[in-house]
Amino acid sequence: MSILDLRIQTVRNLSAVAMQPSTRINIICGENGSGKTSVLEAIHLLGLARSFRTSQVRHLIQSGQPGCVAHAQVDSAGHRQPLGVERRLDGDLNIRFAGENIDLSTLAGLLPLQVINSDTFQLLEGSPSIRRQFVDWGVFHADRRFIQCWRSFKRVLKQRNSLLKYGKIDHRMRQVWDREFVSYSEQLTASRIDYLRQLQPHFEAIIKRLLPDVEIALGFYRGWDRKADLDVVLEKAFQRELQQGFTNAGPQRADLRIKANGHSASERLSRGQKKLVVSALKLAQGALFNQMSSRPCIYLIDDLPSELDSHHSRLFCEFLEESSNQCFITCVDADALAYPWSTQTDVARFSIESGALSRV
Ligand SMILES: Nc1ncnc2c1ncn2[C@@H]1O[C@H](COP(=O)(O)OP(=O)(O)O)[C@@H](O)[C@H]1O
Ligand SMILES: [Mg+2]
Repeated sequence: MSILDLRIQTVRNLSAVAMQPSTRINIICGENGSGKTSVLEAIHLLGLARSFRTSQVRHLIQSGQPGCVAHAQVDSAGHRQPLGVERRLDGDLNIRFAGENIDLSTLAGLLPLQVINSDTFQLLEGSPSIRRQFVDWGVFHADRRFIQCWRSFKRVLKQRNSLLKYGKIDHRMRQVWDREFVSYSEQLTASRIDYLRQLQPHFEAIIKRLLPDVEIALGFYRGWDRKADLDVVLEKAFQRELQQGFTNAGPQRADLRIKANGHSASERLSRGQKKLVVSALKLAQGALFNQMSSRPCIYLIDDLPSELDSHHSRLFCEFLEESSNQCFITCVDADALAYPWSTQTDVARFSIESGALSRV
């Protein structure tokens, strides 16, 4: 699904912005503080009903305003449909698609969003939960049943943890709970492993071009000992878990391990190299998504040229051009993105100044 017509109301410094984006490449240039990131925030609001930078909606809403809105005409299987998301300071959230109210997970399935910004470094440097989110984005879009399994797993984990915390569980009860816990854990893990197996060749093809001199390897830790069955691990760990008050082993501990020439990529790579690795991961996800669903993704790329030399900026643009995705790219200086886009590629350029967007 692509965005055909976008209207933004009172998102950060954007009071009222209308934009007719290209379904392929959109470049938004402007000085610091002009509102480039805010445009991407508004699209993120449209796709996921929240900010990509803050968990507090009040920072997304323009100061002094009661709420903010992102509204668009989107291309849904060849039809134009209205999609709108409104968030209000009082906590209200309204999501409407094609004249109907829809829930958050339906919205997330409609507009598959990929964000590449300075926070994306967290994919290497941050906690395992960020890498699990990355993997689960893919599994969610690859397999519609995943969300149900994931929710059931979360529910059982929460109950198991609360029983452990208050010591209200004995061996017999644990066995009963663990039957469910192990079953959901195995399903979830199988989905993650299957997804990563499919992602691997896409990632390899991209990283070989972006970073040919470094050997980048992806490994997956499922959340418990590779050689043991989860029920055995849980049984052995029970006394310790009772003392700790939470579940130690399981998919809630899974991690994607990223190595550069056999060492931790987070420790070894330069800032620019890290940007290439995390971008390759995100580009690979989009490529696999395109292959599986024959649908485009929407890429929000904040300050594409930052940390990259001109050669790598160009390579990055080449990947974006080769894909079928709709891209929103921001940069401070248009010259830093002097990539020779093919005349076949629909490129729309915008400039933004104090929250006012215009087509160039
Ligand atoms: N909630 C808000 N209400 C009004 N203005 C805001 C809000 N949050 C941020 N701003 C301002 O919006 C402007 C644009 O921010 P941003 O989109 O991040 O700029 P940039 O073009 O550098 O990416 C900044 O001056 C910022 O201070
Ligand atoms: Mg910015």
